[in-house]
This record gives sequence, structure tokens and C-alpha cells, in this order.
Amino acid sequence: MRKIGVGLLGLGTVGMGTYKVLKAQQPEMGKKLGVELELRRIAVKDPAEVADQVDDASLLTADWHEVVEDDSVEIVIELMGGLEPARTCILAALHAGKHVVTANKDLVAVSGRELLDAAAEHKCDLLFEAAVAGGIPIIRPMKQCLLGNTITEIMGIVNGTTNFILTKMEQEGMEFQEALDLATELGYAEADPTADIEGLDAGRKVAIMASIGFHSRVVLDDVHIEGITKITAKDIQYAREMGCTIKLLGVARCDEEGIEAYVCPMLIAGDHPLASVSDSYNAVFLNGDAVENVMFYGRGAGSLPTASAVVGDVFDIARNIMNGCCGRISCSCYKELSVKKMEDTKNRFFLRMLVEDKCGVFTDTANVFAQNQVSLAQIIQRQSEKGTAELVVITDAVKEGNLTNAIETLKAQESVKEISTVLRVYQADKGE
Ligand code: NDP
Ligand code: HSE
Repeated sequence: MRKIGVGLLGLGTVGMGTYKVLKAQQPEMGKKLGVELELRRIAVKDPAEVADQVDDASLLTADWHEVVEDDSVEIVIELMGGLEPARTCILAALHAGKHVVTANKDLVAVSGRELLDAAAEHKCDLLFEAAVAGGIPIIRPMKQCLLGNTITEIMGIVNGTTNFILTKMEQEGMEFQEALDLATELGYAEADPTADIEGLDAGRKVAIMASIGFHSRVVLDDVHIEGITKITAKDIQYAREMGCTIKLLGVARCDEEGIEAYVCPMLIAGDHPLASVSDSYNAVFLNGDAVENVMFYGRGAGSLPTASAVVGDVFDIARNIMNGCCGRISCSCYKELSVKKMEDTKNRFFLRMLVEDKCGVFTDTANVFAQNQVSLAQIIQRQSEKGTAELVVITDAVKEGNLTNAIETLKAQESVKEISTVLRVYQADKGE
């Protein structure tokens, strides 16, 4: 049976998972694909350190060139992460006519166009299913199964660490730091969890999903990003009283005025399917004109779930090689749509503020909203400490610029002691 040589760059969490899945699949591979895959080279930083973790330590090298330049390697799997040298490795592999699989969302979100152009130039496959939502298939469904749709919205929970933290805050009343510490202890959060809790990791995934879904390149800088570090247990309690839960959502929408792309903690109605996605699970919700709503749910991270997506891509390429049809699906960005500024987007908003507890203050506050065309949909007012009251509102859908103006005016009012929290509220119908 024909054998296809595979090279692996990086043997960390996902690299080791991929090694294990490829090994577990070995007996079935020939029957599944009509071809056998053989791991021929593995680049790691320190071969001695991992020598006892692989069957054949002679495959290990500390020099990635030895993988990318090996004539017997037809498919290179990049699982080192980071921008460099990953970008240089992938470009070198493509220029050498090798097909590439990567899980590198950091890189695809900023250099996707460059990499896909290089793949197209050399008629190679460049697949990156694992870069968005780990083990959940979302890129291939958008590029293939759902191609007969005009996609108007892709949104979801695409970061497991933050979903775990928010779940603990909601279900066990933990404060942010306590929940983050637990996430670290259980190995969900990375040693430096900044990219997760500040929304950057989710932002990269939104950029990739929006580019594919709307056929127009969206890069990381186009995505408005807010993290979850300022969410308090009190916000979560009020949200619950108002029939909602708080999730870090990645949202990408497209209409005749352009693309909206943002990541931020949002209130979402308790009966929305995403509200019950808890712990470190991910889910992506997509709307297409023909299919209507589709939801994808599963493990968005982790060694074996992510390796599942990586190996799926490798198998796909093996089939393409056998059928002489590589480079079949390349960059699908044939439009150049503009990305809206946040002030031009429309959403409902949740505001929690501390005001003086005296006659007329509520009317004054309501007037500021009205003067800025902000209509209020839900209101809770509670006495707080030392002559203050906590006022919590959810607005109707409003242009963000109007809400910002109202907040600026409120901040200048003597009776408003503090605007504690401002969050967007997710609404499926574009906030109308
Ligand atoms: P790890 O840090 O666990 O693994 C990366 C490995 O690559 C490390 O062993 C690292 O060595 C090695 N490496 C780095 N640079 C080089 C180099 N120049 N030459 C050889 N080896 C090198 O990361 P993950 O496995 O978690 O992530 C890999 C990729 O998968 C990333 O792009 C990540 O974003 C993506 N991904 C990860 C998911 C997950 O759940 N972990 C989910 C989805 C995507 P050393 O440790 O010595 O630095
Ligand atoms: N750090 C990511 C998460 C996993 O917590 O979801 C990799 O995408």
C-alpha cells in the first residue's frame, strides 16, 4: 500500500495528542483511507527530554528544517504555536510543495491571507480545523457543508477557560480571582492566562470564523475585544434576576452595512441554547439563509479533542493526495467588506450604577437615557449603603454611540456616584 510521510513540529499538549491519535488509528488507517501515513520526523526543542515518550527516538530532531526539508515528508503538521518561527516553517513547507496542517490560531488570525496565498501558489493544502474551537468541526462545515448558504451570523463560546470561570462564578458564587485560581489548579488555564481572560484567544477565533463565513478577510485588529476580568458575582446575580446568564461571547455578523466582529462578556437569555453551555465546553451558533440555525457543541481545547481535528485534516489531505486533487479548497475571501466601528453597532445594554437615594434622582437618570434615545426595558432599584441606591437597567436595542453619550452625561451628574458595570446583551435579531 502507498505510504505518505508525515512530519510533526512540536510535541507539546496538542503535538503529543496528535502523536497518540495517529498511533491509535494506525491499524484502521489503510482501510479508512486506502493509504498509510507514516510519521517520519518530529521537531522538538530538546529531543533528550521527550525521547522516552515516543516509540522511535531516532525520529526526533531539534532542527525544524530537518522536518520541512525532508524529501520523504509530504504533510507537515505545525503544533509549535506562536507567530515565529511557526510562520517561517509553514511558508518553507508550502514553498517546498508540502501540505500543511496547523492548529495555530494566533498565526492564522494575523497571517491567514499570506499563508493561504502561498498554499494556492504551490497547489498545496493548508488546513487549520483545530485553530477554532479545538475538537469541534466548524471550519470545514462552513467551507463545505454550509457553502450553499449566505451566512449572516456566527457567534458562540469559543474559549473554554473563561467559560469555566464564568460557570463557577454563576453556579457556586465564586468571585473572578477564586474561579481563575481553580481553573489554573485544574489545568484549564495556562500559566499565563492573559490571552484567555482578556478575550484575545476568542478574538483570534472570531477573526478566522468571520473571514470564512462572510468570504471577506477579517484580521485580529478588526475585532473589538473585551475580557471578563471586571465581571463580579453581583453582576451575575442581577443578570440572573433579569432572566439572563453572562457568557464571554464571540460575535460576527454581516449585513448590507458591513461586518460586526467582537468578543465581550454579554448577557444572554437563560433559554438560549448557549446559556446552558457550561464548564470548559465550547459551542458555536451559526445562522444561514437556507439552513437557519445550526449549533456545534463540544470540547474546544485539550490534547486529544484538538488532536482529533488535526488528524481529521491530515486524513483529508491524504485523500486529496491519493485523488490528485490537492489545493481544492483554498482562500474563500472573494469580497472586501468593511468592518463596522463599535459605535455604529446596535445592541441592548445592561448597566449597573450607584446613585444618590433621594427624590427625583430616578427621574433625572431616566431623562438622560431618554435624551439620548435610549429606551429602558427592565429596571431594578435596591437600597444600598449610606444613602445610595443601586440602579440596574437593561435597555432596548440602541446604537452604541448613543449609549456612550448617555453614560458620559450620567457620569457628570452629581447624583450618579458610580457606573459600576456596562455590558452588552445578546439578541439574535440584530438588536431590533
Ligand atoms: P504547547 O506549548 O504545549 O506545545 C508546543 C510545543 O512546541 C512545546 O513542546 C514547545 O517546546 C515546542 N516548540 C516551540 N518552538 C519550537 C521550535 N522552534 N522547535 C521545536 N519545537 C518547538 O502548546 P499546545 O500544544 O497547547 O499548542 C500548540 C498549538 O495548538 C498552538 O498554536 C495552540 O494555539 C494550538 N491549540 C491548542 C489547543 C490546546 O488545547 N492546547 C487548542 C487549540 C489550538 P517547549 O515546551 O520546550 O517550549
Ligand atoms: N486556551 C484556549 C481555551 C484553548 O481555554 O479555550 C485553546 O484554544
